Amino acid sequence: MTPEEVKDEVRREYARVAQPATACSCGTCCSSGPDLLASDLGYSLDGGLADVAESFAGCGNPVALAGLHKEEAVLDLGSGAGLDAFVAAGKVGDEGRVIGVDMTPEMVQKANENAARLGLKNVEFRLGDIEDLPVEDSSIDVIISNCVINLAPDKSKVFREAFRVLRPGGRVMISDVVLDGPLPQEVRDDVITYTGCLGGAIPDGEYLQRMHDAGFERVEIVRKTPYDLGSSAEISAYKPTN
Ligand SMILES: C[S@@+](CC[C@H](N)C(=O)[O-])C[C@H]1O[C@@H](n2cnc3c(N)ncnc32)[C@H](O)[C@@H]1O
Repeated sequence: MTPEEVKDEVRREYARVAQPATACSCGTCCSSGPDLLASDLGYSLDGGLADVAESFAGCGNPVALAGLHKEEAVLDLGSGAGLDAFVAAGKVGDEGRVIGVDMTPEMVQKANENAARLGLKNVEFRLGDIEDLPVEDSSIDVIISNCVINLAPDKSKVFREAFRVLRPGGRVMISDVVLDGPLPQEVRDDVITYTGCLGGAIPDGEYLQRMHDAGFERVEIVRKTPYDLGSSAEISAYKPTN
């Protein structure tokens, strides 16, 4: 498949996940169901977030590790139905702001509906591709992302774009699926495995190297949890100050 055909398959799958009462797609990391999983990962689903968690498809809890402060500008790559963006919005407060970017129109619509229902004014969702971010240069303090970059055909482009929009000294906290060894080709070629967050995953060493190549420093895995065929990793990195 071409990269555009891959993205169409990803959009098709996550349009389905955006629908009410549809099971999470992320097969590697969501086998216990989205609500349970968000709770397992340490999310507090009070204050209307339980409904948002119906379409949660993450594999970690990047906000919990990002150390967000009041007034910070946060960007969520592949924001889905908005759970991480909403938790981040509570941490940065009214003087801060959160932008979520997602390429699936149904997810952006769902996230906007959720934001309206929650009455949040410091969050916005933009339809766009994380390989070509609709975000200004050097405008973001913290980038978060939860189980998304594995789905991008050109991960190096995602990291270069993340570097571009981050301010000098800004930081990244990513949760994503990584591989501990090569996947069999038939697994890699299976579109359901790909949209389920495994087929497009790469080994953690390669992941970190691509972030270094994009210009990030202090790139490290802060936590790694093994699943059946891959692992969920929490990865932090910084944009140099000069
Ligand atoms: C596994 S879900 C995770 C969603 C959300 N981060 C969460 O934790 O619930 C992957 C999301 O990333 C989005 N996505 C995948 N590839 C993308 C890309 N290249 N650009 C923007 N969004 C993308 C999908 O539309 C989907 O909403």
